[in-house]
Amino acid sequence: MTETKKMMRALAGETLDTPPIWMMRQAGRYLPEYRATRAQAGDFLSLCYNSELAAEVTLQPIRRYGFDASILFADILLLPQALGADLWFVTGEGPRLSTIESQADFDKLKGIGDIHETLAPVYETVRILSRELPSETTLIGFAGAPWTVATYMIAGRGTPDQGPAHKLKDENPALFGQIIDLLTESTIEYLSQQIEAGAETVKIFDSWAGSLKGADFDKYALEPAKRIIAGLKARHPDVPIIAFPRGAGARYEGFAKATGADCVAVDDAVSPEWVAEHVQKDGCVQGNLKSSHMVTGGQALVDETRKIVEALGKGPHIFNLGHGITPDADPENVQLMIDTVRGR
Ligand code: CP3
Repeated sequence: MTETKKMMRALAGETLDTPPIWMMRQAGRYLPEYRATRAQAGDFLSLCYNSELAAEVTLQPIRRYGFDASILFADILLLPQALGADLWFVTGEGPRLSTIESQADFDKLKGIGDIHETLAPVYETVRILSRELPSETTLIGFAGAPWTVATYMIAGRGTPDQGPAHKLKDENPALFGQIIDLLTESTIEYLSQQIEAGAETVKIFDSWAGSLKGADFDKYALEPAKRIIAGLKARHPDVPIIAFPRGAGARYEGFAKATGADCVAVDDAVSPEWVAEHVQKDGCVQGNLKSSHMVTGGQALVDETRKIVEALGKGPHIFNLGHGITPDADPENVQLMIDTVRGR
């Protein structure tokens, strides 16, 4: 069958007249309907594990805006929870987890085969979505990259410089390597299950890749991505994979080739012209618009959106933000961005 979904065509390397559009964190607190459903679920984690309601919030931005893709509503920290870490969210602050400081802490974690028990509701969300999404909308599954997930598991929270993870990596590379290996292998299993449940593409979020420099970037950002992609391609050769090594800077160049990713998502620290020349030459690219434009809107939003469409329009391109949309964004600015991309 000829592929008709725009997002899937771009991922296959096709250059389209108008790029497909979706947004990181498109189901989120900037939408009143999201806040209402989260209140109904009780809290954020209960929403993630309530398949019906998680599917509902995934569908909300599709109904409101008609995005070309929807991303499963879940979180990258559900996998550590499935591996036995404690996880909770502090309102207004962010995630909290039990920490990993020693071999004994690591040894308390569960095995890879045990994760599906906790994650079963996520697979059910994917199944509901693959039934309910409009036929033109692509369903994206996702997981965190091992390094980024490890930074939260080690520190027990988000940190400005990922200091505790860097410290463990440098002081106890053997233990650190075990954490990365466990996350790499369990991520392959987790994403495989999402694909089997109906995800048509998957994205690997390495939000803190930018704090890995030189050989560390190769060892802990590039290598795990390559292993996950090889593991997935062995089982699901036709499923395209998106990698997001946020903050990679010059290391965005060559990332797709080195890892086997079909698409590389870029943040807003690189110019679209540079991305066209150095990253898009190897395949599809996605991202780049500063999320703050969704707060401020106006002519600057229109100008920057056009600039990205112009610079990346000569190759395979998916329009997206450089990072997640923030809770203070104005839903009308999202519509303005979409209208600008689609030329209305
Ligand atoms: O993009 C989507 O709409 C799909 C769902 C999704 C969420 N988190 C929902 C969420 C995805 C893909 C993520 C990924 C994620 N989660 C990342 C990688 C991407 C990135 O943003 O860099 C990271 C680092 C996390 C961990 C995480 N989850 C943090 C640090 C926080 C707290 C910060 C914040 O924005 O509140 C979360 C919470 C979270 N994950 C929310 C949502 C909608 C907000 C929770 C709420 O509704 O109160």
